[in-house]
Amino acid sequence: MSKKIVVLPGDGIGPEVIEGAVSVLQKCASIYSLELEFEEYKIGGAAIDEFGQPLPEPVLERCLEADAVMLGAVGSPKHDNNPPHLRPEKALMGLRKGLGLFANLRPIITFDELLDASPVKREIVEGVNILIVRELTGGIYFGEPRGFKAGENGRSGYNTEIYYDYEIERIARVAFDSASLRSGKVSSVDKSNVLESSQLWKSVVEDVHRDYKAVKLEHVLIDNCAMQLLTRPKEFDVLLTNNMFGDILSDEAAMLSGSIGMLSTASLGVEKSSGRLGIYEPAHGSAPDIAGQDKANPLATIGSVALLFRYSLQREDIAQKIEAAIRQVLKDGHRTADIAGPGDKAIGCREMSDKVLERISN
Ligand code: IPM
Ligand code: MG
Repeated sequence: MSKKIVVLPGDGIGPEVIEGAVSVLQKCASIYSLELEFEEYKIGGAAIDEFGQPLPEPVLERCLEADAVMLGAVGSPKHDNNPPHLRPEKALMGLRKGLGLFANLRPIITFDELLDASPVKREIVEGVNILIVRELTGGIYFGEPRGFKAGENGRSGYNTEIYYDYEIERIARVAFDSASLRSGKVSSVDKSNVLESSQLWKSVVEDVHRDYKAVKLEHVLIDNCAMQLLTRPKEFDVLLTNNMFGDILSDEAAMLSGSIGMLSTASLGVEKSSGRLGIYEPAHGSAPDIAGQDKANPLATIGSVALLFRYSLQREDIAQKIEAAIRQVLKDGHRTADIAGPGDKAIGCREMSDKVLERISN
């Protein structure tokens, strides 16, 4: 049966990294005799330029009918001063909310070959393997009221951090389920010493934990967690966070693996009998400073293809093949500029994608 993949290259380096990812999808389809249909649409700044909006309604509809979505990156300096509803990032918010993708999985893996690319000492990062489970459709990113006001004390900009118990419960279940398949520990991040939304978070996570007796639960305050990620990252297994804390901690954690250019993500909705719709994308941004120069690292996006096979197409075997190919490329010494050490010759985005392709075979 054929599977529909919607491809959304987006802005900046998005189209470059997506090109490699699509070739990997095509190569896997040919090796494993899968029928994959691709449809490509503009979103973000590219869609603002062409259609006057970051996420045209028909694109969202096509994504809803897809089996999976591959996304590059959005954001362009040209649109930085646009009003909020005309910012490229609104496309991401619209997709996450519109497709109900409440669970964002960000695996932080260290590669032996890249230990020296991390600014953190080798002995601290060696062997780190963390899964960040970030809530993606709630919290301060979506909370109402939000906006700007002018009053007697001057202008103000405001947002609302709000969580309902059902939102906390379903993301906590994703974290505990994931931990059950890993080393069995969840560290739940909050700011319960100050924030009510975090106090509810902590208490709902404790309630859910009663269903997972075999999993160990610890609560960590966000500020302390930011510090511990640098001092004892190996002691984390599954890190459960709200939307905002997960955004920040995942960039920090990415540096344990050497570069944000290595961080793949999966954003998932509820599991249905027809499979699980997901958006697969690198966690890095559109990097306008290097866009169009063939300098970007495509490995995070190619790693996201592995996640697409794992979570939306239920092909763990293919996911592992792709991950092995990425590891092999690094072992063979190939580096893009962001992960090149002194004396390494950096290769471009396209060449890096080709190196991975060469190493994917049946
Ligand atoms: C991420 C990104 C997005 C976010 C931006 C681009 C809106 O930083 O996916 O981590 O804040 O969620
Ligand atoms: Mg981010």
